[in-house]
Amino acid sequence: MPEWLNALPKAELHLHLEGSLEPELLFALAERNQIALPWSDVEALRAAYAFNNLQEFLDLYYAGANVLRTEQDFYDLTWAYLQRCKAQNVIHVEPFFDPQTHTDRGIPFEVVLRGIQQALRDGEQQLGISHGLILSFLRHLPEDEAFKTLEQAMPFRDAFIGVGLDSSEKGFPPRLFERVFAKARSEGLHAVAHAGEEGPPEYIWEALDLLKIKRIDHGVRAIEDERLMQRIIDEQIPLTVCPLSNIKLCVFEHMGQHNILEMLERGVKVTVNSDDPAYFGGYVGENFAALHEHLGMTEAQARRLAQNSLDARLA
Ligand code: ADE
Ligand code: ZN
Repeated sequence: MPEWLNALPKAELHLHLEGSLEPELLFALAERNQIALPWSDVEALRAAYAFNNLQEFLDLYYAGANVLRTEQDFYDLTWAYLQRCKAQNVIHVEPFFDPQTHTDRGIPFEVVLRGIQQALRDGEQQLGISHGLILSFLRHLPEDEAFKTLEQAMPFRDAFIGVGLDSSEKGFPPRLFERVFAKARSEGLHAVAHAGEEGPPEYIWEALDLLKIKRIDHGVRAIEDERLMQRIIDEQIPLTVCPLSNIKLCVFEHMGQHNILEMLERGVKVTVNSDDPAYFGGYVGENFAALHEHLGMTEAQARRLAQNSLDARLA
């Protein structure tokens, strides 16, 4: 990666902590927790990182998360991510975590939260990285379950800046979560949601109008709807775009076809993020480098993208 790219101060606004679980740490945690894995070694696991769509990835991502059991595991996961951030001049992070992925396996909510929180605090003190944590609801599960998760989170209200919506998009439109998002907003939490990754532009409209989101996670399919594009530009609603993720999950066939720079030039407030870096081939820095290499991103464009990420912070 060119040094000037690495040196740019950046914020990361779309990162799933569970998606930063590198194969080496996954194997180490499996050994520590005495969990048998279906892969013989790290190479065999890496070889399984070939996906045709979001669901194929999610199946492996949820299987991988099964090695996370103790507070120390969640600490180690988060700390490893923050060290990567430090190395790439990411100065602020607003990561997601998926409580239901863990509570549904019998891991108490507090165990997950305490490990993440302690690492974020240490990251602030020892690495100088500021943060705001986002609790994400799994949209393939019913809204009732999201309500239960929000209830579990409320004793720790100050640990979060907002709520998000992730997991399988197609067939699970934002409107299904209108009530739980209203409740979260009434508690003073910001709202964001994955929309327009695989799902149609209508899902982005719903996320804006019904969930009243402050940022759109992915949102690359907004380009199919001119009226939506105008709204996103007029209201300067940030998009947290994840280029390497979009290629790995076949949202675009090649990086050369990605629309992020076209959106940037049209005045959309786009940002560069890594989504699930352990699975998609890199962190924020590698995502910027891919845009430079395959789309001819200029230094001026990189500076605007980095500034957008700082401007689009919620914390
Ligand atoms: N969970 C983790 N990564 C995700 C993505 N890219 N889309 C939806 N849910 C996710
Ligand atoms: Zn995501």
